[in-house]
Amino acid sequence: MDSPGHEAVGTVEFVGSGVKNVAVGDRVLVSCITACGACRYCREGSYGQCLGGGGWILGHKIDGTQAEYVRVPFADTSTHPVPDGVTDEQLLMMADILPTGYEVGVLNGHVQPGDVVAVVGAGPIGLSAIMGSRALQPGARRGHRPGRQPTRSRQELGADIVVNNSREDALAVVRDLTGGLGADVAIEAVGVPATFELATQLARPGGHIANIGVHGQPATLHLEDLWIRNVTITTGLVDTYPTPTLLRLAQGHQVDAGRFVTHRFTLDQFDEAYDVFSRPADTGALKVVLTRT
Ligand SMILES: NC(=O)c1ccc[n+]([C@@H]2O[C@H](COP(=O)([O-])OP(=O)(O)OC[C@H]3O[C@@H](n4cnc5c(N)ncnc54)[C@H](O)[C@@H]3O)[C@@H](O)[C@H]2O)c1
Ligand SMILES: [Zn+2]
Repeated sequence: MDSPGHEAVGTVEFVGSGVKNVAVGDRVLVSCITACGACRYCREGSYGQCLGGGGWILGHKIDGTQAEYVRVPFADTSTHPVPDGVTDEQLLMMADILPTGYEVGVLNGHVQPGDVVAVVGAGPIGLSAIMGSRALQPGARRGHRPGRQPTRSRQELGADIVVNNSREDALAVVRDLTGGLGADVAIEAVGVPATFELATQLARPGGHIANIGVHGQPATLHLEDLWIRNVTITTGLVDTYPTPTLLRLAQGHQVDAGRFVTHRFTLDQFDEAYDVFSRPADTGALKVVLTRT
C-alpha cells in the first residue's frame, strides 16, 4: 500500500464497467467506508462489516485517498453526490469524523433531546460527537456554570462546559452538574484504557456509554461496579449509514463541519502537513486539508 488516507472529495475522472450511478465529471464525497452494497451486512446498513470486499479498506488494505488519483471500489455505494451549497471542506469532514462522532457516539449512545452528554476526548472525533449531539437539540439553551469558561474553540463547536481532566476531577464536575447522578450518555473519543474507564464512571445508572476510541491495549471493564448500574455499553467501527442525514444537516446549515479545518496544504507540502497535524498541542491542528494543485 503506497498512499494512506480514507477521507476525500474529488471529481470523477474514470468509471469502471460495473458503475451505474456515478459518471465522469461528477463531484463526489468518498466515504471512509467502502460498501459492496449486496452482502448481508451492507443490506442492513452495516457497511463497516461488509463481507463483499468493502469495509474500512481505503488506506488500510488498498491504496488510500492522499494521492492525486484514487481508485474507489464499488463507487455507486461508496461515494455520495455533492449537495448544493456545501463547501468542499465541509464535505470532507463527512467522509469520516462527522459520521463517526454522530453514529458511533451520538446514535449508538441513544442521545435524546435534553440529555446531558459527557464527551471524553476533544479531538476531531470528540468534537464531532459534540456537534452531532447539539444537532439533536436545536435551540436548546446552553448550560451555564459560574466560574467555568470553556475555551473558545471548544465552545464554538458546541460544548457547554469544558473540563481539563489533567487538572480537574471530571467525575466530580459531571456529578455536581447532574445532582449526583452522572451523564445520560458518556462518549469515549480517545482510545486509551483510562478514558474508557472514565466514560463508564461518568454515565448515570440506566445511561449509555458509547465507545468510539480505537483501543490498542486492553481496557478494564469494571463489572464489579457496573453490573448494578443498568448501563448500556456500545462500541464499533463506523458504518457511515447516517452520512446522507449529515449531508442534509450541512445543507440546512444545522451543522457546520467546515469549522474543523485549521490548516490547508497542497499535496507537495506533505511533510509540513504531517508535522503540523502530529503536534496539535503546539499547532492547534484539528483537521488538515490537503489539496491537489
Ligand atoms: N470507531 C470508529 O469507527 C472510529 C473512527 C475514527 C476514529 N476513531 C477513533 O476515535 C478516537 C479519537 O479520534 P481523534 O481523531 O479525535 O483522535 P485525537 O488523537 O486527535 O484526539 C484525541 C483527544 O483526546 C485527548 N486525550 C488524550 N488523553 C486523554 C485523557 N486521558 N483524557 C481526556 N482527553 C485525552 C487528546 O488530547 C486529544 O485531544 C481515536 O481512538 C480514533 O482512532 C474511531
Ligand atoms: Zn457488503
